[in-house]
Formats: sequence, structure tokens, C-alpha cells
Amino acid sequence: MITLTIIISLVLISLLFIPLEAIQLNTQLDLWREFIGVMHPLFLHLPVGLLISLVVITVASKLTKIPAIPQLTYKACLILLSVSSLISVATGYLLYLGDSYPQDVVDAHLWTAVVFTLILSWHTTLYCLDKIKARANGSFLAVELCLLIMAGHYGGVITHGEPFDKAPWVVNAELKKIEQEKLEAQHSSTIYDSLVAPIMVEYCNYCHGIKKDKANLRTDSYAAMLEGGDEGPSLVPGNIEKSTLISRMLLPIDDEDEEHMPPANKKQLNQAELDFLIWWVKSGASNTSTLNEIPSQFDTLNQKIKEYQEDPKSNTNNTKYY
Ligand code: HEC
Repeated sequence: MITLTIIISLVLISLLFIPLEAIQLNTQLDLWREFIGVMHPLFLHLPVGLLISLVVITVASKLTKIPAIPQLTYKACLILLSVSSLISVATGYLLYLGDSYPQDVVDAHLWTAVVFTLILSWHTTLYCLDKIKARANGSFLAVELCLLIMAGHYGGVITHGEPFDKAPWVVNAELKKIEQEKLEAQHSSTIYDSLVAPIMVEYCNYCHGIKKDKANLRTDSYAAMLEGGDEGPSLVPGNIEKSTLISRMLLPIDDEDEEHMPPANKKQLNQAELDFLIWWVKSGASNTSTLNEIPSQFDTLNQKIKEYQEDPKSNTNNTKYY
């Protein structure tokens, strides 16, 4: 029995050190490997149940002084425990060979399971040969229980993920955080960044930007619009008439002086965009007020807001037109 245990131990230890790539199975063998491997969950519950039963029986008989189960039965249980653990390790190892699980957790699971089986097989051998006393037996059981819990935990993490990630209070906190962040994003997105600037990018900046600044006017920043161009400020908060930026857009498109902006042959703002800009200037042309301060009548611009919220950089860093 000792020889057998030594052989088993050597095999178990070698499992931990065989480099995985060294084992190349052909397709037929691979099918069998997978077939036997998936039975791992079927076997692994045997040692779990058996060990817990043995621990309970041992502790109960110690506390209550009721005689434990007959020694022979105890031995048989230990042998069954060892054999089922060996089968579990073997099937688990087959799964491990073809797996695509997170490596570090799988390694932790394999190591604890192998060390568990190693200790257990020596425990069984020594117990069956009547080589250990009750106290040592208890210590073996305690160590094995700890290792089993660890192996079980890692096993659970492999198949179901970290258990506490799914605890209701963790999930709820996570959902709340996401909700909070969404709300904050909404609050902190300014009307200027998410709506005004993109309109300027689309219709104005390619003539009034970094590359060209027709009439010395740039419309690619809030400060530049306030500063204006040859005719003075293009943006006067609260005043549509003095805000040339707006008044130019409101000129008839076919006016003789060709002062309408954007020039007649270029892409024109739609009515919703125009109405929105008028509202924005009238309401003080703030560059700090946020999206939730927009009247619902501009809901048609929602698409732009949505696009912006999904990818805030898409609008403010858009250099296409400069
Ligand atoms: C294709 C080029 C082009 C585009 C696009 C364009 N502009 Fe102009 N813009 C000009 C030119 C050229 C002038 C100078 C001639 C003039 O004053 O009409 C000018 C002048 C202006 C002026 C007068 C500035 C000053 O102080 O003299 C304003 C205001 C203005 N544009 C606003 C706009 C706005 C707002 C947009 C976008 C909705 C826009 N422009 C789009 C070419 C363009």
C-alpha cells in the first residue's frame, strides 16, 4: 500500500510540473479527453460529501463520546474518499488540458486539489495501516477540509466567477454607481460642448477655424466667438441683433450682398438647429449651463446629444473641418 501511495504521489506531483504545451493529443484522443473531462463535476462532489461527513462524524463522536463508526467503515470511507479525489483530479486535469479558463484561477484550483489529494492519500494509507493516532487523524482532517474549501472556492470562481461579485448588495451598489455616473455625465455636459460646438464644426469652422479665418472670425471656440471678427463681436449674449453670428444666418439666403451665412452654396443649418442657436443666444449664450436646462422643444436635437453622450470626444475634437 505504501508503494502504491508513493507512486500516486509521484504522479500527482509530476502533474504540476509537466509543461502543458508538451502534451499534444491527436483529434480522436482529444474527443475522449473532452468526453471524460466534462465528467469532472460529476465526480468532484463525492470527495466533498465524504470528507464533510467524516469530519462531522469525527467531531460529533469526540464531543458526545458516542463511539464513532466502526474502524473498518471509517477506513473504507477514507479509501473511497481518496479514490474519488484521484478520479476528480484526473478528470479535472483532462479538462485543464483543453481549457480556455482564466489561467491563474485554474492553476490555484489545480494546486490546491493536487495537494489535497496528496495529503489525503498519505492520510488514508497511514490510517489503514494503523500508523496514526486520533489526534493526528483530526489534524489531517482539518488540513484537508481547509484545502477542500479552497479548491472548491477556486473551482466555483472558474465556472461562475467571483461569488461576491454577484452578492445582491454588490450588484445593487454597482447599478447605482452606473446610474449616478450617467446622471453626472448628463449634468456635466455643457450645452456649448455638446450642441453648439458640433453645429459650428459642421457649418462654420472650415471657413472660420484654424486653417481659414474669413473676416478674421473664428467660430471654433467660445472665446473666439465673443471676440468676433472684422465687424466686432460675433456673439453678444442675450442679443440676437448684435450677434452677427446669428443675424448673418437669419439674412435671406439670396440677399444681394451675399452676407448670409453659411454662404448660399454651402450646407445650411436646419430649422431645429437655427431655432436652438437663437434660443441659446437669447437665453444668455452660457458656456457652462448643462444639457438638462434645454427646453423640451429641442428634443429633435436629441440625436446629436445621444451621439455626444456615447462618445463625447467625437464632437469637441472633430478636426475634419478645420
Ligand atoms: C465657405 C466659407 C464660409 C463658411 C462655411 C461660413 N462663412 Fe462666415 N464668412 C465667410 C466669408 C468669406 C466672410 C467674409 C465676407 C462677409 O463678411 O460676408 C464671412 C464672414 C462672416 C461673419 C462676419 C464676421 C465679421 O466680423 O466680419 C460672420 C459673423 C460669419 N461669417 C458667421 C458665419 C457662421 C456663423 C457660419 C456658420 C453657420 C459661417 N460664417 C460659415 C465665409 C464662410
